[in-house]
Amino acid sequence: MEIQGKVALITGASRGIGRAIALELAKQGIKRLILVARDRQKLVEIANKIEAMGVETAIVALDLTQPTVVNIAIAQVWRNYGPIHLLVNCAGVAYQSSFLQSKLSQVQEELSVNLLGMYNLTSLIARRMASQKQGTIINVSSLMGKVAAPTMATYSATKFAILGFTQALRQELAQYNIRVIALLPSLTDTDMVRDLKLFRWVIPMTPQQVAQALVAGMQNNSAEILVGWQSYLAVWCQRIAPWLLELILQIATPPALRRQPSEKPSFFTKIQRFGDLFLFRKNQCQAKSL
Ligand SMILES: NC(=O)c1ccc[n+]([C@@H]2O[C@H](COP(=O)([O-])OP(=O)(O)OC[C@H]3O[C@@H](n4cnc5c(N)ncnc54)[C@H](OP(=O)(O)O)[C@@H]3O)[C@@H](O)[C@H]2O)c1
Repeated sequence: MEIQGKVALITGASRGIGRAIALELAKQGIKRLILVARDRQKLVEIANKIEAMGVETAIVALDLTQPTVVNIAIAQVWRNYGPIHLLVNCAGVAYQSSFLQSKLSQVQEELSVNLLGMYNLTSLIARRMASQKQGTIINVSSLMGKVAAPTMATYSATKFAILGFTQALRQELAQYNIRVIALLPSLTDTDMVRDLKLFRWVIPMTPQQVAQALVAGMQNNSAEILVGWQSYLAVWCQRIAPWLLELILQIATPPALRRQPSEKPSFFTKIQRFGDLFLFRKNQCQAKSL
């Protein structure tokens, strides 16, 4: 897709990956960015930064879980700033917990933002794109939309669903010249993961790396854009030796969420401790050699 001269709407643009995508598209010479999230102040800050790069912006501060508000806002936005050529559905929330301690209110929030919010906005914009006979829709899933991991069951469920949604829409909307793409970031250093207990040995990406992978994937006409070598490794391992990947995920799962402190250390825990010790020693050696 040619980015120059186009108009894009990005949800989740106030922070993290959505913010980085907005900045990257501005760098690539997009004409106008419509920035969506709840936090108006943060949207103003990013809009100022983008306008300084010579790109027009519009701010839409709303909660994507409010369908009526979203419906009215999109009608206004399309009239005032449209047509929209590129929709990036990036807003999302994630909760981590052992499944047996999961809370219905958190699952409902994940479903409302990650799935229903995406569905509602996409349907409003896809109808308008269809009548223009052009458009590109990017749905931000996750590596966890391909490879589910313990403690992330409900989040993974929403991200698997996004991949199914994207795959079906891709076929259905092709007749209207609308491309539908899934972006699958792996662990990325944003506010979302700050409160999570991280999986062992996973190296976080930066939001900028994710945004650059998106632009490269769009230029290569990829239908699903994986980010980083760890994602390719995980997906290939799942195809070739799913049992091995499950074993690795068991070992890599944060320990506090896996067992009660009173339990005897399991075989997995012993391997985890060995791995941590090995990494700790390696890090110490590296620190000494600096
Ligand atoms: N970080 C990772 O490791 C990672 C990995 C794979 C995939 N992802 C996916 O990447 C996307 C962005 O995640 P991130 O890491 O950038 O998270 P983040 O830093 O927490 O940002 C989340 C964004 O979503 C917006 N948002 C949340 N709830 C909303 C609502 N109800 N209405 C409107 N906007 C809402 C937030 O804006 P306001 O708070 O201002 O509303 C914010 O801009 C998500 O879909 C996530 O699942 C993240």
